[in-house]
Amino acid sequence: MRVLILGGDGYLGWPTAMTFSKKDHEVMVVDNYLRRDLARKHDVEPLWSVPNLLERVRTWHEITGHTIRARIGDCCEYSFLAPIFKEFQPEAVIHYAEQPSAPYSMLNHEAARITLNNNLQSTMNIAWAIHEHVPTCHIVKLGTMGVYGTPNIDIEEGWIDIEHKGRKDRFLFPRQASSFYHTTKIQDTDMLWFYVRTWGIRVTDLQQGPVYGIETDDTILDDRLKTIFSYDEIFGTVLNRFVVQAVSGYPLTVYGKGGQTRGYINIKDTIRCVELAMLNSPKAGRLNIFNQVTETFSVNELADKVARVGRDRGHHVEVKNIKNPRIEKEEHYYNPTYSGLKELGLEPHLLTDDVLNSMFEGVEKYKQNIQQHKIFRGVKW
Ligand SMILES: NC(=O)c1ccc[n+]([C@@H]2O[C@H](COP(=O)([O-])OP(=O)(O)OC[C@H]3O[C@@H](n4cnc5c(N)ncnc54)[C@H](O)[C@@H]3O)[C@@H](O)[C@H]2O)c1
Repeated sequence: MRVLILGGDGYLGWPTAMTFSKKDHEVMVVDNYLRRDLARKHDVEPLWSVPNLLERVRTWHEITGHTIRARIGDCCEYSFLAPIFKEFQPEAVIHYAEQPSAPYSMLNHEAARITLNNNLQSTMNIAWAIHEHVPTCHIVKLGTMGVYGTPNIDIEEGWIDIEHKGRKDRFLFPRQASSFYHTTKIQDTDMLWFYVRTWGIRVTDLQQGPVYGIETDDTILDDRLKTIFSYDEIFGTVLNRFVVQAVSGYPLTVYGKGGQTRGYINIKDTIRCVELAMLNSPKAGRLNIFNQVTETFSVNELADKVARVGRDRGHHVEVKNIKNPRIEKEEHYYNPTYSGLKELGLEPHLLTDDVLNSMFEGVEKYKQNIQQHKIFRGVKW
């Protein structure tokens, strides 16, 4: 397939591009380095430095013979984005190109403004570019499980049938996010659902949980092909951060009581889910929604696993409950459905000790790069 990957320089975008290219899809990546720029601005660069996207594409070609085309530019600029759709005529677009951090979106007014403008404008531009230039193109959009919040009922995969005063209808499952970033993901879904109903476009919305992991089959081919790996509170996801904290002797920062439960997913499974979604396009005028997680854990359970494996490897690991900087329930009911992607063929990589050990190995090699002041700054809301 001809696949356009927006946000192709990111943690998930780059490994997705390599996997798809190796499978002989025709891949083009687009990125404006927003993530790198914000990380530099806030002094939270990743654990290792990563060559720029154009260099990585050259390295990929040199090592594998496969070609990934790349464009550097902003998906919020319609005059940049629309011609790419017109010329490349993608059959699928993978939309990763958003500001992906909840704490960043809560930092200050400027950060909230950037998050709102970037996430909604990029999504709207994609819908318009498809409407105007390639109406059959399937949008695979990355959303987040955080849109659902922690309701006191089971979470369905995107939709719920409601009976009210003797009549029935199907609606988007209620969403009530607990950060401004997550709220922009709700707004994205609402916008896309509107365009699906109005223009008959095809969209799959993947409500993904926090991703963990360092390597995929392609990132290990050469150090220059590694993906970005953040360990700070703003851009790092919890399990990745905990492993770095354990290696550097920084107590694992459990917020409040640590009973916050979420669904998690290995980076290898993210790529497979995105591929499965892409290969199973909805019919025109349909919005498919999948919950993209493979198992659920509380923060305490994650901390315990990391501490146990870390201690077995000889690290001095302490777990510390600190005052929760966020407004969120620390103990709650949580039972999401996540069967759709497995029905399409996902075979999950679960969080075993082997997986954790390989993450430790990946981080230990770069121990000298860890800067403890980057780990926690306590963004409050
Ligand atoms: N990593 C996770 O745990 C996780 C969990 C749930 C959902 N997601 C979602 O998945 C997507 C990818 O996440 P990620 O972790 O790879 O984040 P990332 O920041 O590493 O990747 C996003 C990429 O998009 C680029 N980008 C952002 N705005 C852009 C724009 N206007 N034009 C061009 N490029 C732009 C960034 O520079 C970055 O390289 C995001 O939408 C995120 O919200 C991620």
